[in-house]
Amino acid sequence: MNKPLLYIENSIQAKEDFNYAVEKYFNLINWQEECNILDVGCGPGNITYESLFPLLPKTMKSLVGIDLSTHFIDYAKSHYQKDQRIQYHHLDITTDNIPHEFEENFDNIFSFYCLHYIKNQQAAIRNMYKMLKPGREVFLNFLGHCTSMEIYSSLENDKKWKPFLKPDNLLAPTHTDKQAEKYLRELLENCGFTVRLSHKVEKIWIYPQKMFIGKQIP
Ligand SMILES: C[S@@+](CC[C@H](N)C(=O)[O-])C[C@H]1O[C@@H](n2cnc3c(N)ncnc32)[C@H](O)[C@@H]1O
Repeated sequence: MNKPLLYIENSIQAKEDFNYAVEKYFNLINWQEECNILDVGCGPGNITYESLFPLLPKTMKSLVGIDLSTHFIDYAKSHYQKDQRIQYHHLDITTDNIPHEFEENFDNIFSFYCLHYIKNQQAAIRNMYKMLKPGREVFLNFLGHCTSMEIYSSLENDKKWKPFLKPDNLLAPTHTDKQAEKYLRELLENCGFTVRLSHKVEKIWIYPQKMFIGKQIP
């Protein structure tokens, strides 16, 4: 994922599922005055700024977006850093080196549509725990088992595409594990979290043909 504009134009499923999650679950969030907020896997920053930021307490101190993609972070910095309390950083959430200033820094950590791209979910969750202030909350919204992700495994066996794929990084445990909810709950609890709510929603998503036909990759 390194084409910010293409992503913004075509991430209608991510946007719709963000709205669904907000409508259903945001009333359960405990907000703090003067809070520090983290958005893990913020992508090009459109959801962070246009959708998440307006929902945060007006007294918020900082909103930090992190992402693995430098292309996305550069785009977010130049297009969606429209409030002085917003910052974007290039950071792999599975890193062994969380910046010192992020440790126990955040009141709420959000992650939208990112966890299903992470093979080492344990490292990601462990780091979220490290970055959270004691007793505070994370909110994770991501795809579980999703048939469209299986395209990656089939391409892994295709001579043409195989060189572009890193097989070790393909599918997250929450995609492949038949008992994904149990796996995730145990993972969160083993990292120190208490799970207040876990909700699996089954969905059928039909991509409009116009998303694919005649598209030029910039
Ligand atoms: C589908 S996009 C979601 C972007 C945005 N949150 C949204 O809802 O539109 C997934 C993002 O996760 C990021 N990502 C994947 N693995 C990551 C990692 N290990 N650390 C940080 N970000 C990661 C990708 O670079 C990508 O920007």
